[in-house]
Amino acid sequence: MSGFIINGQKKKLSGILPVRGAKNASLKAFAASLLFKNGIHVDNVPFIKDIDQMSLLLEKTGVSVEKVGKRSFFLKRQRVLNTVLDADIAKSFRSSIVLTGLILSTEGEVKFPHPGGCLIGTRPIDVFLRGFRAMGASCGFSKGVYSLKAKSLKGARIIFRIVSVTGTETLMMAAVLAKGRTVLENAACEPEVAFLADFLNSCGARIKGAGTPNITIEGVKNLKSGKFVTPPDRIEAGSFAIIAALAGKKIRITNCLPEHLSIFLETLKESGVGIKSGKNWFEVAGAKVIKPVNIKTREYPGFVTDLQQPFTVLLTQARGESMIFETVFDGRLDYINDLNRMGAKIVLCDPHRIIVSGPTPLRGRHMESPDLRAGLAFVIAAIIAKGRSFIDNIHHIDRGYEKIEERLQNIGVNLERV
Ligand code: EPU
Repeated sequence: MSGFIINGQKKKLSGILPVRGAKNASLKAFAASLLFKNGIHVDNVPFIKDIDQMSLLLEKTGVSVEKVGKRSFFLKRQRVLNTVLDADIAKSFRSSIVLTGLILSTEGEVKFPHPGGCLIGTRPIDVFLRGFRAMGASCGFSKGVYSLKAKSLKGARIIFRIVSVTGTETLMMAAVLAKGRTVLENAACEPEVAFLADFLNSCGARIKGAGTPNITIEGVKNLKSGKFVTPPDRIEAGSFAIIAALAGKKIRITNCLPEHLSIFLETLKESGVGIKSGKNWFEVAGAKVIKPVNIKTREYPGFVTDLQQPFTVLLTQARGESMIFETVFDGRLDYINDLNRMGAKIVLCDPHRIIVSGPTPLRGRHMESPDLRAGLAFVIAAIIAKGRSFIDNIHHIDRGYEKIEERLQNIGVNLERV
């Protein structure tokens, strides 16, 4: 098992941090290959563990995944797919659930286990099952395996009781080849949903309203092949901004779309961080004084939950008290115990709220990365801590950030993979 040794920063960081393609967009584009007889290209793919897992799962299902360029893949399904998802792989990441609706749509049945992924709270799949049932599928569950069956999926009106990103993406894709019209109400508005719909439309799908809470899909008979260009990862860009604010002299973050981070960047400015931005870059200067701010995570366009943990690290250095209200997941605050052991002063008020008092100097420690985003938060904390930290379990970090050590070394971080 590998880990990171990080020596706390004495010199201010500077340079350029290019952002890679978005994990949560590439994964769904890979899954979309199940809908295409003649294959699709996916470009600007990040080299991360979750993409490896998705490729393996697709291969086991009957899709060939071929690397055809530096960051470009060609994916082509067989005529008939395996309708039983490989349980070990499917349990290892949340996006495996996206395949289920697509296999159901083209093969008429699918069997799969409960999807895995980061342990950030209860992550049920009731929204998916309710959607599949509304489209005419029967759903069973026995001995840890879900079974769905439908001769053909029919368009339906589906009202999401809660906003779900993968729920929206899965049901939107399942509806593309279904009979008739599907309407999704209270759908997720994340930019990744709109990018996916634009791609499907460029291949002949008829989706309207993606990126808004109401999406209408008119089923079509088939899709022609096409190319999905993965948009930049807004979570990676936001995490880099926090590193720059805490330890940077001046850092330029490139290949990104600041318009998809507007609430986050506004909050960062409110905490006293200087930011300049253009269409596909922004520059962050290290903050002299960080001011406390309250944040409440929400679905897009609100403050994104995936940046909650890194932002907490920033707030440990703010002068005063900040309240963080995590509303999306019910188990995304457990990492604070490790930050407290480093010297932070964070109090858990209830399972959704913490109060961070600062500024508190942090000390290097041995930590285990509990999940992807908290893992990166620990890296950030270690960068500003006094002394040496060792971060274990970094396979979580590798799930979502491509060769993070190389990119951070390039701006001066003293970090080594061992
Ligand atoms: N939920 C239900 N029932 C469902 C589905 C979701 O109650 O059937 C609940 C969840 O438990 C959660 C809330 O709804 O409390 C929102 O969950 P959502 O379904 O939107 O999350 P997701 O689609 O599983 C995606 C990203 C997450 C990101 C969230 C929120 C992927 C693969 N994952 O998860 O990304 O945090 O949306 O934006 O797209 C990450 O990249 O580290 C990550 C966790």
